[in-house]
Amino acid sequence: MKNANLKNIIKTKAAEFYNELVEIRRYLHSHPELSFEEKETAAFIMKKLDEYGISYKSNIAGGYGILGHIKGTKTGNENKVIALRADMDALPVNEENDVEYKSVFENKMHACGHDVHTSSLLGAAKILEQIKSRFSGTVLLLFQPAEERIPGGAKQIIDSGVLNNPRPDVIIGQHVMPSMEVGTVGFKEGMYMASSDEVFLTVKGKGGHAAMPYDINDNVLIASHIIVALQQIVSRNAKASVPSVLSFGRFIADGSVNVIPNAVRIEGTFRTMNEEWRQKAKEQIRKIAQSVASGMGAECEVEIKHGYPYLVNNIELTSFLSNQATEYINPEKVIDMEIRMTAEDFAYYSQEFPVCFYRLGTGNKSKNIMSPLHSSTFDIDETALETGMGMFAWLAVSYLAK
Ligand code: NI
Repeated sequence: MKNANLKNIIKTKAAEFYNELVEIRRYLHSHPELSFEEKETAAFIMKKLDEYGISYKSNIAGGYGILGHIKGTKTGNENKVIALRADMDALPVNEENDVEYKSVFENKMHACGHDVHTSSLLGAAKILEQIKSRFSGTVLLLFQPAEERIPGGAKQIIDSGVLNNPRPDVIIGQHVMPSMEVGTVGFKEGMYMASSDEVFLTVKGKGGHAAMPYDINDNVLIASHIIVALQQIVSRNAKASVPSVLSFGRFIADGSVNVIPNAVRIEGTFRTMNEEWRQKAKEQIRKIAQSVASGMGAECEVEIKHGYPYLVNNIELTSFLSNQATEYINPEKVIDMEIRMTAEDFAYYSQEFPVCFYRLGTGNKSKNIMSPLHSSTFDIDETALETGMGMFAWLAVSYLAK
């Protein structure tokens, strides 16, 4: 009964703050900043937190991150701490939407919805500050920069120790999902997103006249064999229980109709969900690429850039939160999701803390709002902001009351 009451208070406040949140989101959307450059975004967040009367630390982890702090004044679970995380950075994409809140900068766009994450967290913060007499424990508001670029802001935040005191018991984050209808949220227990490593191969040999392949190394043919041979890693060496993907999106053989080039460049990505296998697979990529090249008389330089780890949602926490979500919205709108092979630096938190990374539906087929993440026409149905801020606040107080 008491909880039902709190739920209704949060819903009322989310409805009340909706127009303000649309304004906040539109400001952030039209003023995107790239990873590690989020200075004005941080200044804007601090202005809002000042306005709401919420204390915070700024410039955390040597970057533009902000850690806000709200302590509930009710007695009971004073020592519990939950952190709510929102990322802040944009992508080097030129926005093609014809909207009044279109990005004012060329080649910078909130094409991954981090404007929505940041504004939803500001809305949740405003709600939580106003209801702090009704909960016990601490909510940390983690505005995190630089999600989109390796090494990722999350790692810097963990390494800086800013989350050591107070140390959150759990961290939760939400991310927009244009393929899910507005008004829905999605949860996945356990393995959820992949690790991501970047693979760079350069096949080198003596190129020359294409009419006389017997006198030279056909680096184009060798590179093609390497790509085919590497597919055995996923199809033959990966365990069926461990999702793995190896894809190559760049193959540069810059010769001509009758010239075989001295070098061919191949670039791709390796993704999986097991750290041990990840290391082993990377060694195998190196070994196969080098031995195919040397067997055919050339050589292959291999560089593999270590990206984000895989993301695992704590089973107990995720199951608890998805149940709580069905209390807040119609249970049919709480979706069970599948594993995704995309990556996210929130994964670093999942290695150190019990976490739950859930999805916020932002699409609307009837309004033709369906463009995928990272595309130049990505946009949201803004009514998702009401669910975004309300759900964040509701899950936080539900966890603290547990
Ligand atoms: Ni994102």
